[in-house]
Amino acid sequence: MTGIVIAIDGPAGTGKSTVSREVATRLGLAYFDTGATYRVATLACLKEGVDFSRTSDVAAMVATMNVELVLDPGAPRVLLDGEDVSRQIRTDTVALTVSKVATNLEARPILQEMQRTVIRHELEAGFSRGRGVCAEGRDITTVIAPEADVRVLMTADDEVRVARRAGEGADRMTVREAVLGRDRRDSAVVSFHEAADGVHTLDTTDLTIEEAVRAVISLAHEAQL
Ligand code: DC
Repeated sequence: MTGIVIAIDGPAGTGKSTVSREVATRLGLAYFDTGATYRVATLACLKEGVDFSRTSDVAAMVATMNVELVLDPGAPRVLLDGEDVSRQIRTDTVALTVSKVATNLEARPILQEMQRTVIRHELEAGFSRGRGVCAEGRDITTVIAPEADVRVLMTADDEVRVARRAGEGADRMTVREAVLGRDRRDSAVVSFHEAADGVHTLDTTDLTIEEAVRAVISLAHEAQL
């Protein structure tokens, strides 16, 4: 039997990452955060002082950067030139810049191909020893793995998404801009607010993480019957 592919898309603050990691852990799958590939590409450009308005320069950096992904849902990591940059890719600087790479139409196909390769490799060997992968992002159900066994679009009301992201002491307007503003910018090149044909919508507005995890796992069980 070949491994299973679970594809989960959605905007920020829907619980996508937490749910995907937990699903991967419970099912013994690899966890692939595709957003991390856009973030590490952004970090690589920032480190080398690449001008983001020069789209070909960004694409050249993306094509040649030396990245390694560890798909362990218990401890996912991203290495750039052998250095663990898992924290660096989560800084505000990267978060505020990453849309420039995500909307770069020369760089994006290179990252998309890298993501398809990661998933293919995971089905053959990799962390899960071929059991499969839970991959999350914005275009996994539609572009990266439209043939996935389970395809889910996670949604939640805007206010709930902003509230979930508003950390202690964080200025709510800043969080609002970070969450909704980034969605707006990314929406220019990728559609992740409406489910494509065959994609299950999971509205997490009134769901706990546990309920959302169970919903995805039951879809996975149905798909494997
Ligand atoms: O999920 P995240 O916040 O780590 O995503 C980082 C950025 O990458 C965000 O601006 C959206 C973009 N992204 C994308 O365009 N396609 C994906 N499959 C995943 C992320």
